[in-house]
Amino acid sequence: MKSFLKEASLGLSKKNKKLSSKWFYDFHGSKLFEQITKLEEYYPTRTERKILKDNKIEIANRIGKSAVLIEPGAGDIKKIAIFLSNLDKPKKFIPLDISEDYMTKISQSFKRKFPKVAITPKGYDFSGNNKLPFKINSSENIIIFFPGSTIGNFEKKDAVKFLKMLKSKFKAKKIIIGVDLVKDIPTLISAYDDKKGVTAKFNKNILQRINTELGGDVNLNSYKHLAIYNKSKKRIEMRLKSKNNNTIRINGSKYLIKKNEEIHTENSHKYTIKSFKNLANEAGWKIEKTWVDNKKLFSVHCLNLAL
Ligand code: AVI
Repeated sequence: MKSFLKEASLGLSKKNKKLSSKWFYDFHGSKLFEQITKLEEYYPTRTERKILKDNKIEIANRIGKSAVLIEPGAGDIKKIAIFLSNLDKPKKFIPLDISEDYMTKISQSFKRKFPKVAITPKGYDFSGNNKLPFKINSSENIIIFFPGSTIGNFEKKDAVKFLKMLKSKFKAKKIIIGVDLVKDIPTLISAYDDKKGVTAKFNKNILQRINTELGGDVNLNSYKHLAIYNKSKKRIEMRLKSKNNNTIRINGSKYLIKKNEEIHTENSHKYTIKSFKNLANEAGWKIEKTWVDNKKLFSVHCLNLAL
């Protein structure tokens, strides 16, 4: 966990304190995220599932024959199951996730459900420039499945970089991607600040990890979970606001977090169909098809290579 130590130390030394949302996802954080997806207020998961379900035949047709399906940041890998049986002889499924433990555990029940599909889960942090943990054969029908609006957690320039990388490094032919849409602010805020406080726990898990993995001494109760909508950047920002003057000690260093100071932990960008089209085009992809739910809360797109 050297990189967590490095990034946490760097992020807490900054004037505007920052910890990357990718550190939410250890085993416990992945479990909490799974709980979030079932919350009444968190509309993205159930809406995206319905879009995938309602359009599974068309999605499978667009994916085509003998697909090698790769799912970066796969999490609980439940969504691919929606259209997997409709695919024409899929070759393999490679779920990738930063939490390898979680991935391996989750894949076991998948194997029982889909014994005919070769599944090879891998631990992989796709946010860096890491070497792929498997071989790519560019003549194969490589399809990236990237649901859940994880693309929204990237800064715009990183989202473009990521989509470009799917072409250059993964040799993807198409991408099936879920993108959360701009909507009224109260709906957005409550999705990220639920009544049961699960999202607050999820946000604070990053502090918990500082304690358990880096030997930190953070008192989780002295931070408040915040979810704010940044109108100009069209994104939800999650932050942890310090209730008092706090000192975090990690590895012999001290970081002072003043009363009311905030640690920025996550951005979740929201797009319009048009702004996402522009983003995809900038990265060299074109939109082959877009599906939305009838309330226009969420979108799923099939992207293909722009010539
Ligand atoms: C994983 N990602 C798309 C979630 C989101 O909605 O941005 C993470 C999340 N953060 C708080 N709630 C859910």
